Amino acid sequence: MGKIERADALIGQVPFAITDPERIPAKRYYDEEFYKLECERLWPRVWQMACRLEEIPNVGDFVEYKILDKSVLVVRTEGGIKAFHNVCRHRGMRLAHGHGNCEAAGLVCPFHGWRWNMNGENTYVLEPGLFSKEVLAKAEIDLKPCRVETWGGCAFINFDHDAAPLRQCIEPFATMHDRRHVEKMRVEWWLAASLPCNWKLAMEAFHEGYHVMRTHPQLLPAQVRGAKARYFQMPGSGSTGYSQSLTYKTRQQVVEGSIKYMKRLNEGMAGMIHARDVAVAEDLRDMELPEDVEAAKLAWNLRLCEEITRRSRAAGLDAPDFTQVDAEMMTSGVNFCFPNYFLLPIYGNASSYRIRPTGPETCLFELWSLTLMPEDEKRDPPRAPTPMRHDDPSWPPIPKQDYSNLPDQQLGLHAGEFDYMILSRDVEGLISNYQRLIDGFLAGVEQKKLVAAMSKVNGGIDEPIKDLGF
Ligand code: FES
Ligand SMILES: [Fe+2]
Repeated sequence: MGKIERADALIGQVPFAITDPERIPAKRYYDEEFYKLECERLWPRVWQMACRLEEIPNVGDFVEYKILDKSVLVVRTEGGIKAFHNVCRHRGMRLAHGHGNCEAAGLVCPFHGWRWNMNGENTYVLEPGLFSKEVLAKAEIDLKPCRVETWGGCAFINFDHDAAPLRQCIEPFATMHDRRHVEKMRVEWWLAASLPCNWKLAMEAFHEGYHVMRTHPQLLPAQVRGAKARYFQMPGSGSTGYSQSLTYKTRQQVVEGSIKYMKRLNEGMAGMIHARDVAVAEDLRDMELPEDVEAAKLAWNLRLCEEITRRSRAAGLDAPDFTQVDAEMMTSGVNFCFPNYFLLPIYGNASSYRIRPTGPETCLFELWSLTLMPEDEKRDPPRAPTPMRHDDPSWPPIPKQDYSNLPDQQLGLHAGEFDYMILSRDVEGLISNYQRLIDGFLAGVEQKKLVAAMSKVNGGIDEPIKDLGF
C-alpha cells in the first residue's frame, strides 16, 4: 500500500504526524509537545470507559473516574446512571475520592460543608445570607453534569458536549460483543500495572498476534515452536497467529492440542478460558470424530460449543448459543475499542483491558477477568486495585510476558538513530489505523469523518492498514 491520500491539510500541522501509514514516528511515544496535544485534543473528546456498573450496584453508589488532571463521579440514581465533574462549585475542592454512597448524606464538601443530592442538586449552603443572591442561583451551585452513557456493563463518559452518541463511536465493537452477552459478565478479578512506557505502546502490545510466536511460545503447538514457528492469519475470524490444522495430522492430535491450548490459556491468563470450560473438553475427549482432520476440527469445536452452552444454561447463566456465536465469527481473540478499551471474549468469559496515560512515558494498565455469573448471586462490588509493578512475580504468565517487552521498547525508541517504527501492512495495520485516527483528533478533522474512521478502527486485531477517509 502506498501513501494514503490526505484530503485534510490540517494533519500536516500535527507534530510527528504519520505521513506514511507503514511508518510510525518514534517521538509520538515520548515527545512532551505531542503528549500535551493528546491531553488537550484527544482525551477531552472521546468516550472513555469510566467504570463497571457492578461497582455501583445500589442507588446512591458512586465511583470516581480519573483521567489526567480531571476527575468525574459516576453515580447510580433512581433515574439511571449520572456523572458529575468532581468539583465543589464554591471554591473548587474535589468533592470525593474513590467510592461511596451518597443516598442518605449526599455529597458533602470537606471544606465548608456545602452539600448535594445524588442528582447533583445543591441541598445545603452554610449561612447563605453571607452570599449575594445571584451567586447562589441554582445554575451556579448545582454540580456540573458530565456526559455519560452505558454499554456492555460499563459507564462511559465524554467531556465533549458535541461528541456523537456513545454507540455510534464504538461500533462495530458494540454489536460484535452484544451477541456474547458481555453486559451480563461480572468481575472475577481486577488487577492494575503501572508501566514505564507510553500508553499507546502498551496498547500496541495487544494489537497484533504477530508477537505470539516469540513472546508467548507456550501458546504454540510443540511441533511449530522455535525456528518452525510461522504466522498465519485465520481467514474470517482474524484470529491470532497460527493455524493448528496445518500442524495436526490426526483427529487425536486435534483433541489433545485443543485441550492443551485451553489449559495454557486458562493458566496464562488466570481465567479467560475457565476451568469449567476445560472440564467440558475433558469430558468430550473420547467423542467420535470424523477421520479427516479438518472435519474433525469442525465437529470438535461444534460439540464443545454445544456442551458449554448447555452446561452454562443448566447452571443458571444467561449464556448465548455459543455454536451460533462461533459460526458468526464476529469477534476475534482480541478486540479493540478506540481509544483505550479491549475485550477478549471466549465462551462465557472475557478478559478486558483499559489503558490510561499517567505521563508521556508512563501509563496505568488495568485488567479484568470477567465471566457470566448467576444474576441473583450476591457479590461484593469490585474495587480498584493498587497498581503493581510491571515485573511483579505474581502476574499471570501471559501479561507478564507482554509487560516484559515494554520497558525495553520504550527505551529503544529513544535510540538516536531510530526515527520511526515500521509496520506490517497486512497484520500490524491496526497500530497505524488508530494512530492516524489520533492525528485526526489532534488536527481537528470534522466529527463526521472521525466517527466514520472509528468504525474502521473498532473491532478485531491483526488488521491490515486501512484508508480512514482523511
Ligand atoms: S470549597 Fe466546597 S464548600 Fe467551600
Ligand atoms: Fe501478548
